[in-house]
Amino acid sequence: MRIGLAGLGTVAQGLLTLLKENREQIIAVCGQPIDVVAVASRTRREVDLAGADFSHDVLALAKRNDVDVLVELMGGEGIALEFVDAALNGGKPVITANKAILASHGDRLFELAATRGVMLGIEASVAGGIPIIAALTRSLAGNSVERVTGIINGTCNYILSAMSDRGERFEDALAKAQQLGYAEADPHFDVGSIDAAHKLAILAALAFGIPFDRAAVYAEGITDVTPDDITYAKELGYCIKQLGIARRTAAGVEMRVHPTLVPLGTMLSSVNGVMNAVQVNDNATGSLLFHGPGAGGRATASSVLADLLSLVRGDRPIRRLAAATTQRVLPIEAVESAAYLRIPVIDQPGVFARIATILSEHGISIEGAIQRERAIADRKVPIVVVTQPVREAVMIKAVAALQALPAVVDRVRRIRVEHAAA
Ligand SMILES: NC(=O)c1ccc[n+]([C@@H]2O[C@H](COP(=O)([O-])OP(=O)(O)OC[C@H]3O[C@@H](n4cnc5c(N)ncnc54)[C@H](OP(=O)(O)O)[C@@H]3O)[C@@H](O)[C@H]2O)c1
Repeated sequence: MRIGLAGLGTVAQGLLTLLKENREQIIAVCGQPIDVVAVASRTRREVDLAGADFSHDVLALAKRNDVDVLVELMGGEGIALEFVDAALNGGKPVITANKAILASHGDRLFELAATRGVMLGIEASVAGGIPIIAALTRSLAGNSVERVTGIINGTCNYILSAMSDRGERFEDALAKAQQLGYAEADPHFDVGSIDAAHKLAILAALAFGIPFDRAAVYAEGITDVTPDDITYAKELGYCIKQLGIARRTAAGVEMRVHPTLVPLGTMLSSVNGVMNAVQVNDNATGSLLFHGPGAGGRATASSVLADLLSLVRGDRPIRRLAAATTQRVLPIEAVESAAYLRIPVIDQPGVFARIATILSEHGISIEGAIQRERAIADRKVPIVVVTQPVREAVMIKAVAALQALPAVVDRVRRIRVEHAAA
């Protein structure tokens, strides 16, 4: 099996190392060696290419006749998409870790691969080393998946863990994540949830047979989460995680990524640092949790290698759920979830009762609350409540009504609560 490798960065180097270190094992399990014979990338980095040709012409690599499979590890949507298109059009199987192109062009690319009768391997595109694509498309393919819930951005999880465990401020935790090489060069990609939205779009497409559509994912970042929110959440028995949630309901499929209160003691609540985890709920197993490194050269290369072995063994390409494609994606306004509300008020008699009345007028019940005895500063106190589940559209109106109260002196903060986490 001769590989043409596009890109020579973290994951590509991880793949070169793994192919070398595990060479005997690879021959033992698939009966032949897998070798990188040609590499193309922008920069010739100081990496041992084990005799492979190097060139700067990525698109020429896609058209070479002396490779059996093309592995795209450049990232981004420009040249990477051109490369994948050219390779598939030329009848070559492609393996890619590129969530950005899949989340927006996945349907077209899978169709192209099917038309050409070649494999499109995408195991490395979600959750690094966790074999979640194989789980959804092979191991659990006959089960009806109800929900996929994931901590699928290591940087967000690192930052929220650092804020919770060590009391760090958001900015300091982000700076440390950047120093440690966890965060993307443009941190908005991580903390603004673009990365997680790409991954959730892929998971939902595979789990529910809906189109790959990043634009249909509701995405909210973690920049507004404060140390106070983390403290109050703990007092109420929760931690705050950035969750991606894809859920099938009678009305349609929910797809959303946002900060979420998760009950302490659940498995997802104990996934800390840069680790990723994906929980799958289906009608056969009940609940499964996949946990592991969501990034890193070697871990992600493990997923690329899994696709390569699959190709050598001649596994059938991923079959998407065709029957389910009529399901619609629900707008966020139609989603139902419980909420944590932090309401900064002037400390005066009857405020809590007024807040409870407004919530009740909107049909919202309170499940738990914290009311500080004394004002912290300037007679300001936060009233914190956790509500029962309610439709987003109703909650938006209730928050607007709370915000309009004269005693409410600052922005009402709302974070959704997920009780169904494992
Ligand atoms: N890193 C992870 O932990 C991880 C985890 C899961 C998935 N992924 C995905 O894996 C892919 C690769 O990520 P990475 O972390 O390995 O990225 P990276 O370290 O930035 O490496 C990207 C490589 O592609 C080359 N490249 C970029 N643009 C190019 C262009 N226009 N023409 C030619 N070569 C170009 C870069 O060249 P230069 O050397 O000149 O920059 C570099 O060698 C991405 O799709 C990413 O989302 C990464």
